[in-house]
Amino acid sequence: MGLSVDRITINGGKPLLGRIELKGAKNLVTKAMVASVLGETPSVLKDVPNISDVRIVRGLLEVHGVRVVEGVEEGELIFDPSNVESAHFADIDAHAGSSRIPILFCGPLLHRLGEAFIPDLGGCRIGDRPIDFHLEVLRKFGAVVEKLPSGIRMSAPNGLRGAKVELPYPSVGATEQVLLTAVRAEGITELKGAAIEPEIMDLINILQKMGAIITVDTDRVIRIEGVERLEGYTHRALFDRNEAASWASAALATDGDIFVGGARQSEMLTFLNVFRKVGGQFEIHDDGIRFWHPGTPLNPVFIETDVHPGFMTDWQQPLVVALTQAQGVSIVHETVYEQRFGFVDALIDMGAEIQVHKDCLGGQACRFGQRNFNHSAVIVGPRKLHGADIEVPDLRGGFSHLIAALSAEGPSTVSNVGIIARGYENFIGKLQQLGADFVLEG
Ligand code: EPZ
Repeated sequence: MGLSVDRITINGGKPLLGRIELKGAKNLVTKAMVASVLGETPSVLKDVPNISDVRIVRGLLEVHGVRVVEGVEEGELIFDPSNVESAHFADIDAHAGSSRIPILFCGPLLHRLGEAFIPDLGGCRIGDRPIDFHLEVLRKFGAVVEKLPSGIRMSAPNGLRGAKVELPYPSVGATEQVLLTAVRAEGITELKGAAIEPEIMDLINILQKMGAIITVDTDRVIRIEGVERLEGYTHRALFDRNEAASWASAALATDGDIFVGGARQSEMLTFLNVFRKVGGQFEIHDDGIRFWHPGTPLNPVFIETDVHPGFMTDWQQPLVVALTQAQGVSIVHETVYEQRFGFVDALIDMGAEIQVHKDCLGGQACRFGQRNFNHSAVIVGPRKLHGADIEVPDLRGGFSHLIAALSAEGPSTVSNVGIIARGYENFIGKLQQLGADFVLEG
């Protein structure tokens, strides 16, 4: 499942043309795998992508005694949780990598075993702040949270009870934490300020298949009636809309035409509106969406990233590459993550004209305004990109660098591309299918 290749030399300037197929969403599949721990019987998950984040969660399940085997269908995994057991800090740590998923094991493991551990992954990887909502939620359910030198230990000496929870921000992970904990807690849980991303709705579908009782109101309120027993599930994962948006942006940036098999309109409405405003063309089919460059100049846009149903933060980086080719000034105000514009430095080296600002530009003030975060970008286009040597910083930023190299004139060497395999299944094979001109280096 890993990617042995570390570096790609790309001869850019050729449109990407052809068809690729999506599998299930990384940001649903990994949580669905954790949910299998709650069942008394085996679960079957279909359309699991072959990505390294899935391998990490599989490893974490296995160290906790869950048997994981491949099913008959390609991309099908079967999880048997009949022998769930405690794991050592060191084993969890060794399997966790830089993933945040260990925190989501807490509720299910507290139900199954009465205790759970999260390794201390180091201040810059998991500090207290990025999991503060999670710890607060677990305490509300009655978990005892102890900070030890080696990590965090949790126990539930009196079991877990339903709670009234209000999130300070509609966090995806903290909402999932509440769901995965409340479904088997005693009594009723009311969650206010919930995130309602389609991946969360699909996790709710899975939990309902397992026997959970969950009501979703229109005002970010979710109610869960705890039940005593959950069964395994059989489920085909929701498609990866972040991957779909990435390839759509690649079509636009390279003057290309890509049919993204498995993409659906309803979960991508907001992206499709912006894609159309930029000038991108698309056609909705029963089995996917075709995205292509119009052949005329692209338009600049103003985008503010937000929680669903807003424009997702994960769509921002690939689209910024296409916006370097729009005729005029685009503005992107990032309101979900405070530090998500580091990737533009490489684009600037390649000839893009982009400035980042600490102010909330173009829209409303967000929680990062008046603080020291470069979270607004001004992109002036069109600017011709030329090839460069780039080192991939993170998953979405890395895919954006690939797109930039594919659209630039001349050769680019992109290193550290293994990170991209965390979330993009077989991206090398897909680039080949789309006619990209590149050479792999070990
Ligand atoms: C999920 O991260 C996704 N990851 C992210 O995708 C995605 O960008 C994000 O949701 C927003 O949609 C997975 O699903 C594995 P959050 P998550 O909790 O759940 C702050 C990708 O590229 N916060 O909604 O970790 C946090 O710092 C990845 O696929 C706290 O302050 O995101 C951020 O500013 C990247 N304390 C905001 O909330 C907490 O305890 C939203 O984060 C938790 C979060």
